Amino acid sequence: MNPHLDKLHPYPFEKLRQLFAGITPNPDYTAISLGIGEPKHPTPAFIQKALAHNLQGLANYPTTHGSDALRAAIAGWIERRYGIPKLDAATMVLPVNGSREALFGIAHCVVDASKTAPLVMCPNPFYQIYEGAAFLAGAEPYFVNSDPARNFGCDYASVPDAIWPRVQLLYLCSPGNPTGATLTLDDWQQLFALADTHGFIIAADECYSEIYHGSMAPLGALEAAHALGRSGGATPYANLIVFSSLSKRSNVPGMRSGFVAGDPAVIKKFLQYRTYCGGAMAPPVQAASIAAWGDEAHVQENRNKYREKFTLVTPMLKQVMDVDLPDAGFYLWADVRRTGLTDTEFARRLYVDFNVTVLPGSYLAREAHGVNPGQNRIRMALVAEVDEGVEAAQRIVQFCSTLKKS
Ligand SMILES: Cc1ncc(COP(=O)(O)O)c(C=O)c1O
Repeated sequence: MNPHLDKLHPYPFEKLRQLFAGITPNPDYTAISLGIGEPKHPTPAFIQKALAHNLQGLANYPTTHGSDALRAAIAGWIERRYGIPKLDAATMVLPVNGSREALFGIAHCVVDASKTAPLVMCPNPFYQIYEGAAFLAGAEPYFVNSDPARNFGCDYASVPDAIWPRVQLLYLCSPGNPTGATLTLDDWQQLFALADTHGFIIAADECYSEIYHGSMAPLGALEAAHALGRSGGATPYANLIVFSSLSKRSNVPGMRSGFVAGDPAVIKKFLQYRTYCGGAMAPPVQAASIAAWGDEAHVQENRNKYREKFTLVTPMLKQVMDVDLPDAGFYLWADVRRTGLTDTEFARRLYVDFNVTVLPGSYLAREAHGVNPGQNRIRMALVAEVDEGVEAAQRIVQFCSTLKKS
């Protein structure tokens, strides 16, 4: 077997299962899970219809490149969303079956494991796929810790000079999972300068880009590259590849539809790689994706639901733990030290007493530079409908009040 497989950590939900093993939660309460980051708002009917009415392509193999119509729909969305000139849909856009598989695959496409001690840089905490991708591509992850004092941003200036020449791929997540933090134009300027100096590829994970709580949509990587007028390479998007998805934007995590876009030289190689691993998207999914990327009304409605939930729930939880409204995304990333419990104790006792599941923050991060930046934090995914989110918050407040008394 591939020895790199042994390096894979148990997934956070596996660790959670072990934490909850043998526990019967309080039967007075129905189960509420804020654990898994899976959208729960209903899939819009027009997307379901587009899927059901486009079954005619099933007798043929789809191409990995996707249909011209799908790539044009994606390029059109990027142009409208980010206000940048239309990307060449033939060479700069590629459909993928959800961003997860593409985020995993890109490391195999980019990393040259024959070079000395290759590194894949990731934020910490992070979406677990980045680390697994690094290991299986024959590299080691290098973690840069998220810093609460920088609105959970990472301090890339703190990375020792000797590290950068070994970095071949840098994963970024903006808006971040779990922190909700978004990168600014200054952050992008610094990161592009580093990529230009050291020649690594930036993989910008933007799958939460459409769920935000303020009036300004989060800055995208392509938008930043265009605004900064990068001129080092053949395109402003040199060494940059962006990952986006319909899963959260359109409540279709089961449909498996996303895209990558950016540097045509990287996309060309990724297309070749994907042709071998069989990354083509099913024709009905392509048709439904065209419909979804072409509509913003459902996205606005979805965003409003999250805003309502976050506006109600955040002040309630603020009474009992240190938590703030994030820039974007559908997670609250709370510090529970005020309760006197560690993140794992908090999650376990809340489950026992009130049948609410939250994810211990330490499961989403690794110890790096002497600290696990997820320790003493919990991640709460506010994915269910508004009433359930409020009910969960009420139970958490009650739980924390009982802790104070005991
Ligand atoms: C940060 C991040 N990136 C990517 C994904 C993958 O989403 P999908 O494969 O549904 O596009 C997720 C899913 O939860 C995520 O949290």
